Amino acid sequence: MTKINAAITGIHAWAPDYILDNKELETMVETTDEWILTRTGISERHILKGEGKGTSDIGTEAVKGLLEKTGTSPEEIDLLICATVTPDMQFPATANIISDKTGIKNAWSFDLNAACSGFIYALDTARRFVESGSYKKVIVVGADKMSSIVDYTDRATCVIFGDAGGAVLLEPTEENLGIMDSIMHSDGVGRVHLHQKAGGSVKPASHETVDAREHFIYQEGQPVFKFAVTNMADVSAEIMKKNNLNPEDISYLVPHQANLRIIEATARRMQLDKEKVMINIQKYGNTTNGTIPMCLHEWQHKLKKGDNLILAAFGGGFTWGSIYLKWAI
Ligand code: UT7
Repeated sequence: MTKINAAITGIHAWAPDYILDNKELETMVETTDEWILTRTGISERHILKGEGKGTSDIGTEAVKGLLEKTGTSPEEIDLLICATVTPDMQFPATANIISDKTGIKNAWSFDLNAACSGFIYALDTARRFVESGSYKKVIVVGADKMSSIVDYTDRATCVIFGDAGGAVLLEPTEENLGIMDSIMHSDGVGRVHLHQKAGGSVKPASHETVDAREHFIYQEGQPVFKFAVTNMADVSAEIMKKNNLNPEDISYLVPHQANLRIIEATARRMQLDKEKVMINIQKYGNTTNGTIPMCLHEWQHKLKKGDNLILAAFGGGFTWGSIYLKWAI
């Protein structure tokens, strides 16, 4: 029997219009454009403004564009997975809401939470459905309205995050294209360094938790940075070795955009030149589940069928991993 591979056959991404630049942040907290740029590589980030707007609105824009670009009718979709840490509500799943808003009626849908690694976790999950032969059209959304959980009085986190998202269509192919391999990891001991303290079942929302500002991102930057550099670089080098890939075989590294220094360390470890690394952190900051599809969308016009890409991410949990894929369109 011929092996069925899962290939990305379409990509679209979306960021809201409002731009929060470093200059504006200088008026909000004690920081400088220079500090933010040298420590993170970020100049500006996009913020979703407007009453009643949530992550599903970002995902919906991405999915609508994806359906239009690929000439796909919503009724054809079999499954939609949304990777997010900022769901519209605790329940139901934001994936259900996106499906409703985009007219996807013949599919089932669910959310997946793996913090900043969510998009690659979801892609690796989705590909198994396609490879099974039973699923023909699967959408993976990565989207976050990080501004909904950012404390804009905390200079250590508010300069980092932004809002955006993207979506890919996965379809079966019998060609030697699509997702070739993946390596995924998690280690829950990392939770102490990066989490949201309240609003879950351990500490439900109360006046006290709101007063203590416990519904925002809590991050100990340095330990997270250390783990991120080591693990994202290691797993990217590991997937190259496992698949006998040399630096010259790789067209692009598509890294999660958390910090320019983490991206550069990963590229160095893979011995890749800067031109082979997708970097747009300067314009969007860390959009959590949005970073990788935002990059693929921006670089799509440069990609050729058969190009070898390595996707890599690291995030809260800790979670981390890499995917090796051959671009199929
Ligand atoms: O995406 C998921 C995973 N997340 C990550 O990968 C993030 C990993 N961590 C990082 O990217 C970096 O640790 C940060 C960008 C968060 C922070 O950079 P850092 O180089 O690790 O800085 P630091 O936390 O060690 O802080 C250095 C100094 C401190 O001052 P003192 O104690 O040396 O006087 C901070 O208070 O910089 C200060 N600082 C700031 N100064 C100006 C922290 N934030 C700011 C700021 N502006 N926005």
